[in-house]
Amino acid sequence: MGPADARALAAMDVDAYLADPSRKQAFVTPMFDVIAPRYDDFTRLFSFGMDARWKAQAIREAASALNRVVQASPTGHAPIAVDLACGTGDLAIGVARAARQLHPTLHVLGVDAAVEMVRHAQRRLTGVDADAASMVHVAHGDMTSIALADGAASLVTAGYAVRNAPDATLAIREAARVLRPGGTYVTLDFYRPVFAPWRMALLAYLRVAGDVVGWTWHRSPVVYGYIARSIDHFMSWQAFSAQLTAHGFRVRTVNRWLGGGVALHVAERL
Ligand SMILES: C[S@@+](CC[C@H](N)C(=O)[O-])C[C@H]1O[C@@H](n2cnc3c(N)ncnc32)[C@H](O)[C@@H]1O
Repeated sequence: MGPADARALAAMDVDAYLADPSRKQAFVTPMFDVIAPRYDDFTRLFSFGMDARWKAQAIREAASALNRVVQASPTGHAPIAVDLACGTGDLAIGVARAARQLHPTLHVLGVDAAVEMVRHAQRRLTGVDADAASMVHVAHGDMTSIALADGAASLVTAGYAVRNAPDATLAIREAARVLRPGGTYVTLDFYRPVFAPWRMALLAYLRVAGDVVGWTWHRSPVVYGYIARSIDHFMSWQAFSAQLTAHGFRVRTVNRWLGGGVALHVAERL
């Protein structure tokens, strides 16, 4: 993926792709392939460091959920955690590190649709994050069709994942399918704030900042301007809670930041 791919994305009508589940992935995957090399820098910069704090909390929630799940009903097998849309591996690696003392046999499977993201995650596991390599396996895959049997996982994590799926309901259903009863779904994402003035202000900031960084780094404003657009096409955190309840989960906690623009849901599979 090079400058030509970034230019090809810039020529696409992003709102038309986001509005059509049958076309959304055709925009989203090449976009993440283009931004993969600078994705980590971008998320730190764009969120003024908040991304790292939100993820740290998600990892703490995931590790304590895993303790709860395994203690409540031990299977006798090594526990499995899945990180959906794992990107460069922040959550998959973080969960492995946080859980390895109590669950040294934990296996964390990270799946992502963008091969460049998978490559970056794998590079981390052979380099700076090699200490987690024995517990984490990262592969190309689709969060709406995970290569695991029903009920195989004790934990599913998802960082900024469901908003990027062509069909959020399919992604939630698939998380429910692979989780065993009592298993936990920990999901962090941007949501569409309900309060209209705040929504307009937040989306305007994300759009302008995204366009500027997208132009500066990739000569393609849309690759980061996409974030604001994808939030505007997504749902509120309240609607997401309702979707979880409708698909077999009990929502245990919801941490919210940025006036409901970001939320961390912890939900138990019933
Ligand atoms: C914003 S990034 C999040 C990466 C990582 N989870 C994090 O928290 O930093 C969204 C990721 O979703 C991936 N993605 C998009 N559609 C997907 C799908 N259908 N299945 C799996 N991954 C997908 C993209 O390739 C991208 O890596």
